Amino acid sequence: MWDLWLDRAKPLVPVIVIDDPEDAVPLAQALVQGGVRLLEVTLRTRHGLDAITRIKHEVPGAIVGVGTVTSAEQMEDALNRGAEFVVSPGISPELLECARRWGGPYLPGVATPSEVLQARAAGFKYQKFFPAAAAGGIDMLKAFAGPFADVKFCPTGGIGQKNYQDYLALNNVFAVGGSWLTPAEAISARNWQAITTMAIAG
Ligand code: 3PG
Repeated sequence: MWDLWLDRAKPLVPVIVIDDPEDAVPLAQALVQGGVRLLEVTLRTRHGLDAITRIKHEVPGAIVGVGTVTSAEQMEDALNRGAEFVVSPGISPELLECARRWGGPYLPGVATPSEVLQARAAGFKYQKFFPAAAAGGIDMLKAFAGPFADVKFCPTGGIGQKNYQDYLALNNVFAVGGSWLTPAEAISARNWQAITTMAIAG
């Protein structure tokens, strides 16, 4: 699925935190206008699930997923609300089993070789490398490339405008995620044009 989506979307996954539910649709529209279509809406605020449903129904072109999923219950809730992909910051047997039963695009969060192995054994060859900068960044991803040649990563955590392209240049990186494309100041000022401009540049 990721390959299919990436044929028509930039390999960037903004990590979105919705504080005001009214922001969800204009923010998603601003990103989609800039070609950034894979949108990870986190469950870090109580508006996450509503935001997913609204974006799914009101923003053509958006591919909306759920992030910061830490339990099977949250995964099921988000899928019922329309999430098209699921991202978790780490793995647990419960999360891996729930995602396996679902069978859709799930990015398990990994930071170590053992976690890469566990997620791969559960059938997931696309994984989120988190927290990327703190867990070894580009050097760690290069080290993963040898033993895990069949696994591709979406590094997230501590990545920004200055270095996201260095990550994207790696063969085992299929997309890069983070909050730099949705700065809190631009959202609170409702400066959607600034967000589109950044998305276009990204
Ligand atoms: C995530 O959940 O992926 C990260 O918290 C995003 O990290 P960033 O804010 O450093 O981009």
